[in-house]
Amino acid sequence: MITGTRTGIGRGLAEHLLAGGHEVIGCSRKPGVVEHERYHHHQVDLTDGGQVKALFRALRGAHGHLDALVNNAGTSVMNHFMLTPEETTRRLFDLNFFAVLNCCREAVKLLRRSEHPSPAILTLSSVAVPWALDGHLAYSASKAAVEQLVRVMSKELADQGIRVNGLGVPPVSTVLTRTVPRERIDGLVARQAINRLCTTADLAGPVEFLIGEKSAFVTGETIFLGGVN
Ligand SMILES: NC(=O)c1ccc[n+]([C@@H]2O[C@H](COP(=O)([O-])OP(=O)(O)OC[C@H]3O[C@@H](n4cnc5c(N)ncnc54)[C@H](OP(=O)(O)O)[C@@H]3O)[C@@H](O)[C@H]2O)c1
Repeated sequence: MITGTRTGIGRGLAEHLLAGGHEVIGCSRKPGVVEHERYHHHQVDLTDGGQVKALFRALRGAHGHLDALVNNAGTSVMNHFMLTPEETTRRLFDLNFFAVLNCCREAVKLLRRSEHPSPAILTLSSVAVPWALDGHLAYSASKAAVEQLVRVMSKELADQGIRVNGLGVPPVSTVLTRTVPRERIDGLVARQAINRLCTTADLAGPVEFLIGEKSAFVTGETIFLGGVN
């Protein structure tokens, strides 16, 4: 299951995994756009805990289990913290942190029922955390919280055979980044060891690895792409 599959990275990952023969469940607030016989879309607002519970109840009825959860749905705001209303930060945390926590809690009940050799949770983080990007206080704080969730949850779920990892993503051209000025993106790309813009295709291999059995001994890690340190 991948959250936030209507656009951007989530959509690209869904299409990649479908092409690889997987059955993919996706979700977003608006109707799905991915068309494939092995793709199942659910319209849900993940910031509503009741809707999240209902979604996973429906998945249990329809599929019985999950092999992997990719927490991809996320949002960002870019502004000086002095100009960011509290409500904006709370709304951002509702999706980037609390929805992730709720999805994990519900998904674990279905991951436990998986016959996959190494069921896994993968959550997307951002270079905004290690780079402590100015103008991204709320966003990077929410992703830092997610990285801590990865570390703690990996320990709390290890005895159930469920791994929990994160993927630290550099800038990718999507709806999320369309309002970020070109010079700022160029400046971030220049800080990467690999000096080109990351694409969804660059994420596909690491995602497949981290939710697949080849990473059966990897847990509690957030792996950064592009050489960000
Ligand atoms: N793009 C980048 O440069 C970049 C860099 C680092 C990390 N990331 C991370 O990568 C992830 C995906 O980002 P993206 O760039 O692909 O963003 P995006 O294109 O804006 O996609 C976000 C997806 O989440 C869905 N969504 C938003 N709010 C939702 C809600 N309340 N309930 C359910 N679904 C919701 C959206 O569909 P609806 O509008 O239909 O709900 C959409 O499918 C995020 O976690 C982001 O922080 C992105």
